Amino acid sequence: MTDKTRSIHGEWSSRFAFILAATGSAVGLGNIWKFPYITGQNGGGAFVLVYLLCVAAIGIPIMIAEIMLGRRGRQSPINTMQTLAAEAKVDPRWGYLGWMGMIAGFLILAYYSVIAGWSMAYIFKAFFGGFFGTDAGEVKQMFDNLMASPIQQIFWHTVFMFITMQVVMRGVKGGLEKAVRFLMPALFVILIILVAYAMASGAYAQGIHFLFSPDFSKINADAILTAMGHAFFTLSLGMGAIMVYGSYLPGHVSIAKTTFYIAGADTAVALLAGIAIFPLVFANQLEVATGPGLIFQTLPLAFGHMSGGWLFGVLFFVLLFFAALTSSISLIEPAVAWLVENKNIDRQKACVWSGTACWGLGVAVVFSFNVWSGFKIFDKNLFELLDYLTANLMLPLGGLCIAVFAGWMMKQAHAEQELELPAQGFQAWQFLIKYVAPAAVFIVFLHVLGVL
Ligand code: PFF
Ligand code: NA
Repeated sequence: MTDKTRSIHGEWSSRFAFILAATGSAVGLGNIWKFPYITGQNGGGAFVLVYLLCVAAIGIPIMIAEIMLGRRGRQSPINTMQTLAAEAKVDPRWGYLGWMGMIAGFLILAYYSVIAGWSMAYIFKAFFGGFFGTDAGEVKQMFDNLMASPIQQIFWHTVFMFITMQVVMRGVKGGLEKAVRFLMPALFVILIILVAYAMASGAYAQGIHFLFSPDFSKINADAILTAMGHAFFTLSLGMGAIMVYGSYLPGHVSIAKTTFYIAGADTAVALLAGIAIFPLVFANQLEVATGPGLIFQTLPLAFGHMSGGWLFGVLFFVLLFFAALTSSISLIEPAVAWLVENKNIDRQKACVWSGTACWGLGVAVVFSFNVWSGFKIFDKNLFELLDYLTANLMLPLGGLCIAVFAGWMMKQAHAEQELELPAQGFQAWQFLIKYVAPAAVFIVFLHVLGVL
């Protein structure tokens, strides 16, 4: 189990395979569904700017650290952290970091699967011509009907969870690498087509203005926390997903370079999604702060009126489904890897156990959109609560701990040996991981608590 050169779970076939898998994990609902709606809820440009700063100054250095820790530990995040803590001769309780990540992944997947289920439901709505010639009111009604139906949502959530488990059971290598190779570029192309449509929509300038001209009066401590949390969420950081993917990475692959590719692709997809959606929001007099239904109430309008809209509509939701799938498998992988390592069960059983538990919580999330929508804790329904707890609190806290471990606990000679960077590059990373990233997360937390 402590073999340093290879993980017992296998290894990516190449550096390119790792980039695909990690990009698959990063690019998902976070970019296309979540980024636009939280940008709408938090006032636009200033929020986007804070998010981009967080990606650059916190996300990128922490991604480098997380991949590095994974590759050095070569096991599930819990065991990786325990092994590396022992190597660094520090408190074995660093293993708790792995535990928190595993739990966060579980909580995220519970609602992630429900939203992925929405996109599956929309594949069929698109296929049967449901968007054709619709107006904003009809599209909203279509979404409201889905929200009001526990049966439909549970059905799609179940299908999505089942497919996720099927893929994870087969191990990450078997087919997923190949699928992502085709799907990611295809998603990119459709987004560009949607951007082109948005440019012709009349409210293009207004959309761009909303996204890119910062108005800092619209931003408060909670918006800053959301932007920072989203930087972690969108890059799959702070919970061990990227760490466990890193543990399957062959040695002597440049971790820093791959990180730039992954973060670059992720950011590009999010911005393209925003540029495609906000002009439609303004052109149709929709509310920017609509919330989680935003893309489901805007994009069908575009598909319903553009030429080729039927085809693009079906393709778009198929690709969104695949983007969600390549992320969901990474959300459950830390738990599956740990169960296999510590509970002496095979991959199949580990998938069934963890998947079933996650499915159950997901059913409760479905109810939070209808029958339990009145049930609130801290003024949040279950979906909002899980989202806040994981993206805004657990992931940044996990990221903070990863930064402290990589920057202060582990021998810097070991970090240098793993990263194989030119001296200046290594120093830049070290500065960001030791000071900038931890301080930024800490200050934002204090700011939210009202201490600073
Ligand atoms: N990064 C994914 C997205 O943007 O949709 C979500 C995600 C995947 C978050 C894996 C966390 C994670 F570990
Ligand atoms: Na993302």
